[in-house]
Amino acid sequence: MTSRVRVIAPATVANIGPGFDVLGLALEGPYDLVEAEPTGDGIVSLVEITGDDGSLPTEANENCVGVVARDVLTRFAPAGAGVRLWLHKGLPLGSGLGSSAASSVAAALATAVAVCPEVDRAALLDATREGERLATGAAHPDNVAPSLLGGLVACVVREGDEVEAMRLPVADGIVIVTVSPEIQIPTEEGRAVMPDRYSLADVVANMSRVAGLVAGFASGDLERIGGCLEDRLATPYRKRLIPGFDDAMASALSAGAVGGGISGAGPALFAVTDDRDRASRVGAAMVEAFARAGVRSVARVSGIDDRGARVVGPDWVPVT
Ligand code: HSE
Repeated sequence: MTSRVRVIAPATVANIGPGFDVLGLALEGPYDLVEAEPTGDGIVSLVEITGDDGSLPTEANENCVGVVARDVLTRFAPAGAGVRLWLHKGLPLGSGLGSSAASSVAAALATAVAVCPEVDRAALLDATREGERLATGAAHPDNVAPSLLGGLVACVVREGDEVEAMRLPVADGIVIVTVSPEIQIPTEEGRAVMPDRYSLADVVANMSRVAGLVAGFASGDLERIGGCLEDRLATPYRKRLIPGFDDAMASALSAGAVGGGISGAGPALFAVTDDRDRASRVGAAMVEAFARAGVRSVARVSGIDDRGARVVGPDWVPVT
């Protein structure tokens, strides 16, 4: 009998417009899958990676999956515990859908379930952030937290820069469109173009919209959500890295989305609506806009993943 554990972790939209490094939302696919097998040799090894076209580092200590597993063992496992890992990428790399976060979260939960199953999943957040630190240069929590916990999550900064991930209420029926252009923007680059200082007016505008957005998600008031997605901290600087951004967002609104923006650090964009047919039209309009800018792109329509990372059986079928 194998003791191999299989865990999936969902794609995420971080920031959700004005909530830079604070808000994130888990999507019903795509997912990364990590398998973990406990060993007694104290070693973390990455046996195989699939779905990455050979582009990810295969050394465990150079891949977020291995770094996170090591961190989980150090924090929670008995001395001498080790783990063998298999990573199956379902998310596109460097896309703004939280690719490294999904791998990190799946690795953390798979390692914990395989080696130290008594650990509460919320306690895995800090380990998953180490994966983000390695992959993106910043341990930002707003992709890993929703991928770990599911739903809409606020990452609340406490004393000493500790982060508490807080699940927030979300009304039924909200549909998210994501469109991934075939370009890559490393998160590091997306963060480097942002200024060091902001005007008080810009900060207040963003804070007020975060408050409105949280209220809109809780009540399901689409117009309120749409009216609170504009961002003054990251989007004005990052959109220059995304050919066709303005046209794609205008096309999303014309096709019936209430609003949208850059997903995480981009280049993927997201748009919000409450109807799957309309969402398909929004996605198609955004893909056409990217095509006008000479960029191929792929649209996805997703509900919100309310469960976050979880153990799956051998018959689980990847969602693209
Ligand atoms: N909050 C992070 C950023 C998310 O915008 O840089 C990266 O996916």
